[in-house]
Amino acid sequence: MVGLVLLMRITRTNQTEGAELYLASTAVFIMEVMKLGICCCVITYQSDKSLLSELNEHVMQSPIEMMKLTVPSFLYTVQNNLLYFALTNLDAATYQVCYQLKILTTAVFSMILLQRKFSPKKWAALVLLTVGVSIVQISGSRDSSKSETEKHSQFIGLIAVLCAACTSGFSGVYFEKILKGATTSLWLRNVQMGIPSVIIAFITIYAKDGAAVSRQGFLGGYTPLVWTVVTVQAVGGLIVAVVVKYADNVLKVFATSFSIVVSCVLSAIFFDFHASFAFIAGASLVVMSTALYAQPERKRRRKPILPESA
Ligand code: C5P
Repeated sequence: MVGLVLLMRITRTNQTEGAELYLASTAVFIMEVMKLGICCCVITYQSDKSLLSELNEHVMQSPIEMMKLTVPSFLYTVQNNLLYFALTNLDAATYQVCYQLKILTTAVFSMILLQRKFSPKKWAALVLLTVGVSIVQISGSRDSSKSETEKHSQFIGLIAVLCAACTSGFSGVYFEKILKGATTSLWLRNVQMGIPSVIIAFITIYAKDGAAVSRQGFLGGYTPLVWTVVTVQAVGGLIVAVVVKYADNVLKVFATSFSIVVSCVLSAIFFDFHASFAFIAGASLVVMSTALYAQPERKRRRKPILPESA
């Protein structure tokens, strides 16, 4: 995840002189098309029926379900555009720290939409996790283009990433509610969400960047690195869906955070990564918060009601 953010940031800012910058709106569209393609391949492989009859049943004949999934699909498309926007305007460290607020928004929406209850201990673990991951990400960021960033509008970038943290929490939990509320497969659910996403992403391209597309072309500025970023994002999005199906959104944020720490530890072993004090402090907080969250709740024993003495 850390790697992806840095790659995204490099593709948005490290332009060779005179080279065109690819359009974020087309990148989001291509990512959505890739996800849709992968889901259709999996359905063809897994299902006894043909892809067309599955699509007919679950897309053409299910307008209500499609409408329900248009909500997260719209929000994810907005979120993916916001994140590109934020990364163009903010340095990678600020972006990553602010985006970690999605840990808390996910918990809050799980409480509201799924009536999940968190004990004070679990809340403490969530806050510790947010702080720990933020410290790890600041310490791990090697992005030092501060002076250039100052030219950009930091404030708007910040608002964008905070909005994305909210949509991430809401859409993740909403999708989980729909996924777990019926037996329709994960891949069909993703197709139901992917079709509106592709349409919305396509409209966004022409509403936002119509002039730029006719000037530089749809794929203007696409380098192999940009294709890598888009592919990793598409596969990452589907992994998110699988994790949400077999676990839940709150566990997802813990798994992501833990993986950040593991990947840094592996880089320390196999590559030339020197852990700073801040990194070790942040990583310890992540491990502690995970242990705290995983502890089973102790059931409070009710005091026995003693018969009143006469
Ligand atoms: O940061 P966050 O965990 O909210 O990122 C979710 C990403 O996963 C988004 O890019 C979204 O498009 C993708 N996703 C997906 N299919 C789902 C749920 C999320 O592609 N069912």
